[in-house]
Amino acid sequence: MNPNHGPTAIQVRGLCKSFGEHIVLDRIDFTVPQGSIFSLLGPNGAGKTTTVQILSTLIKSDGGEITVGGYDLATQPEQVRSSIGVTGQFSAVDELLTGRENLMLMGDLHRLPRGESRRLAADLLEKFDLVEAADKVASSYSGGMTRRLDLAMTLVGDPRIIFLDEPTVGLDPRSRRAMWDIIRELVAGGVTIFLTTQYLDEADQLADRIAVLYQGRLVAEGTADQLKRMVPGGYVKLDFNERAELDLAARAFGNAAQINGDLTLAIPSDGGVRSMREVLDRLDAARIEPAGLSVHTPDLDDVFLALTGGHSTDKENAR
Ligand SMILES: Nc1ncnc2c1ncn2[C@@H]1O[C@H](COP(=O)(O)OP(=O)(O)OP(=O)(O)O)[C@@H](O)[C@H]1O
Ligand SMILES: [Mg+2]
Repeated sequence: MNPNHGPTAIQVRGLCKSFGEHIVLDRIDFTVPQGSIFSLLGPNGAGKTTTVQILSTLIKSDGGEITVGGYDLATQPEQVRSSIGVTGQFSAVDELLTGRENLMLMGDLHRLPRGESRRLAADLLEKFDLVEAADKVASSYSGGMTRRLDLAMTLVGDPRIIFLDEPTVGLDPRSRRAMWDIIRELVAGGVTIFLTTQYLDEADQLADRIAVLYQGRLVAEGTADQLKRMVPGGYVKLDFNERAELDLAARAFGNAAQINGDLTLAIPSDGGVRSMREVLDRLDAARIEPAGLSVHTPDLDDVFLALTGGHSTDKENAR
């Protein structure tokens, strides 16, 4: 999705934040279009939670122009609060209450009439697969159930913009997928999601756009595919039926590598149109027609490690 088209849910220009001497956010810019999923990636201590806390009015920035839901964060924090929901990195579930009571409490906080709170709680318990556990205390819930309840509680105020700070940490693969489905459903209903995660596959699966936060700056921003094209390691794979054809192709491409002794060649490429055209032109010129051709871009793990050197910001601060 192009951030320059359609209405904007979140606009951030020159966001700065320091804790004492420690600069956490150093002039950050990004735009999140309405109804899209934006994912902020970064190692431990990069400033993801700090960003969520600033955008959701929980703490103040040191500078920058920020609008959320069309409202100015500095001068209209009340309006911002009324259009957002936040599911924090640490659960807001009260463990001494039941799931239903937690949801009813959120209804009270939003000043909904009791009857409406009760109906909404029942709906959400159903939607989040918590009906059986509805009247058990939350301390008896599994991690996945607690996470689902936490997100359900966020939905009580029907927010149009939702901040999810590492929503699937500690969940098993099935619970993560259930959470992803819920997030996709929200977006299909027009909700905007601002998601932080350390799981690259999660950003890859969900996000329309991804930004990588490292040492106070956004070191990369784009779609998952754009980010994957930023790091070397991609290649075009050519499959052949016969050894003689493969040898011919290997001669035509000086830099080709044979994969695992198969009838397959890998030609280094960024996967972009220009380099694909070069490969095709060279095949044509040598009158070689491979049996198969596919493009392999590096995955987001490669991108993340290349951009951050595999370090967590925490470790660097401690040095
Ligand atoms: N209230 C605070 N006072 C001082 N330093 C803080 C405060 N809050 C955060 N920090 C520091 O700011 C940096 C960014 O923290 P933040 O929690 O935003 O990182 P994060 O990207 O969410 O990390 P994680 O992946 O571990 O959740 C860290 O070095 C942290 O120690
Ligand atoms: Mg955090």
